[in-house]
Amino acid sequence: MAVPVLELTEAFGALGTAQGRQDPYPLYEAIRGHGDRAWLRKDRLVVVGYDACARALRDPLLHVQDGAAYDVARPGWRAHSSLRGFTDSMLYSNADAHSRQRGLVSFAFTPPRVRQLDAVIEEMADRLLERMALLGRDGAPVDVVAEFASRLPIAVISTMLGFPEKDQVWFRDMASAIAVSTDGNTDPGALHRADAAMDELSGYFAELVEHRRRHPADDLVTLLASVHHGDPGRLSHGELMGNMMVLLTAGFETTSFLISHGVMLALEHPAHAARLRAGEPEAAERYTEEILRYEPPVHVTSRWAVADTELLGEPVPAGTKVVLILAAANRDPGRFDRPDRFDPDRTQAQPLSFGAGGHFCLGAPLARLEAKIALPALLRRFPGIAAVEAPVYRDRWVVRGLDTFTLTVGT
Ligand code: HEM
Repeated sequence: MAVPVLELTEAFGALGTAQGRQDPYPLYEAIRGHGDRAWLRKDRLVVVGYDACARALRDPLLHVQDGAAYDVARPGWRAHSSLRGFTDSMLYSNADAHSRQRGLVSFAFTPPRVRQLDAVIEEMADRLLERMALLGRDGAPVDVVAEFASRLPIAVISTMLGFPEKDQVWFRDMASAIAVSTDGNTDPGALHRADAAMDELSGYFAELVEHRRRHPADDLVTLLASVHHGDPGRLSHGELMGNMMVLLTAGFETTSFLISHGVMLALEHPAHAARLRAGEPEAAERYTEEILRYEPPVHVTSRWAVADTELLGEPVPAGTKVVLILAAANRDPGRFDRPDRFDPDRTQAQPLSFGAGGHFCLGAPLARLEAKIALPALLRRFPGIAAVEAPVYRDRWVVRGLDTFTLTVGT
């Protein structure tokens, strides 16, 4: 990869352009040229090194962006329901509010509990693959993102939460519309659509919760509704809504990108695809970890210093915003040999794609399981799968992945 020599602010600024979003990796290396952490201005630190990111994510004095931090960073944000709808959730909470909420929701996502979904996910994947076979018969082109990668995660999380199957494609479209606001998009049209989608989805959730209170079912909404009361130590109404919204949106596009990146990389690396098809022990596990490292769905997160702290010896004063580029940390040459090479056989994995520390992704076991089932199943079902055109990335940076990838499935 040719690394451009750019001033720090120039390289960082270019990440906000359409060209930068299409391929941000050379810009990450240009930033790395200024150090594993570098000051964009006196209250803004950008971090691209693996050790520095891992340390920052675990520092209790570096908080996630909550409502108070939004007031500073994005005045006027409260006018947007697409942002307000999340700020009561665990992802936007700190300290006690965060641990209380996480403690009340996390039981549903433990690895043993998630493993129980194995057969359900397999069955869902098979049904979607059958549908793809029909759509793609006689060589008709099929978009693997729209027809498989985005449908499986929404089907899985909808089933866990207890959302009706008929509404799943609608959820997917609502969740996509909402996601632009958390991506830092300030285009008025996109924000308006995001707000409208959030209002519609919130109304739907509120009705569903009421319904489940009266008619309990064997699903996550019923369980979450039962831990929601006004009492301290439980979820408030806003927290219940916020966390349902996060579960639906945080797990959907991200996992969809993990799966579609996995398909794209399998076509680029036929030897690894063959190992997935053969069902080699651990092949799917290693392959999934390497997709996460090499082409992570979440490129960046941020933290706010609530008191003076330090990062690997560097003083970080209170009030600093710390921008953590996880995708750059995953390609830190100090941590990974030949980081720009896709190599599922590498041993020192542990990418930061799911974050680290107190906010480590709650859905990581679920996302991994979906990819480990979906990718071998797709490759086995369609041994002659081939790209019709180059994959197209969505014009986004924070959660980055494929918009479309058109294939023939060879049936
Ligand atoms: C490949 C798929 C996924 C990726 C790459 C991903 C990535 C992340 C990252 C990086 C964070 C931490 C953000 C930070 O510290 O600032 C996070 C948090 C979170 N993720 Fe995921 N995620 C994925 C799938 C899922 C799924 C399937 C779910 C649930 C259904 C989920 C639910 C959550 C929740 C609830 C949090 C907040 C945890 C907390 O604040 O304590 N994610 N995710």
